[in-house]
Amino acid sequence: MKKINLSSSGLLYNDMKELSEEDYKLMESAIEATQDSYSPYSKFKVGAAILLKDGNVITGSNQENAAYPSGMCAERVAIWKVATSYPNQKIKKIAITAKSSNKTVDKPVGPCGACRQTMLEYELNQQAPVEVLFMGEVGKVVKVESITSLLPFSFDSSYL
Ligand code: THU
Repeated sequence: MKKINLSSSGLLYNDMKELSEEDYKLMESAIEATQDSYSPYSKFKVGAAILLKDGNVITGSNQENAAYPSGMCAERVAIWKVATSYPNQKIKKIAITAKSSNKTVDKPVGPCGACRQTMLEYELNQQAPVEVLFMGEVGKVVKVESITSLLPFSFDSSYL
């Protein structure tokens, strides 16, 4: 028997002002995208911004529905926009943020499991890592170098 270490590494910034100019701008786009969130049920507005290799920025926000499971997360809205409108472009990074009308979100908001799995599919297909940055409305920012580091023992097409 051998012990398995599941720790993954990343960077923790105290504030988005510590980010590089490229990352800061992308996070600003994610913040802007929260304005288009349709979240009357959760009151939790999520914004995602994807930087493509050609410099284009594609955004998405969460879209809810009166039939709750019919809604969709910001990250998947954004990544499927890329998949359908920019199918040949590689993704460099994605920035995610959220705010709530119930409270100040002061912890970094990591992508949900389904979004991690969805993003992994495209990262594996493009054979290049996708950096992920996430924060709340205020405070610390987490940055990881790849979707893979957010999903240990992940499932992918190699099993099929
Ligand atoms: N949400 C996202 O947009 N992304 C995530 O990764 C987590 C959750 C949305 C879904 C729902 O509209 C609201 O946040 C509350 O769960």
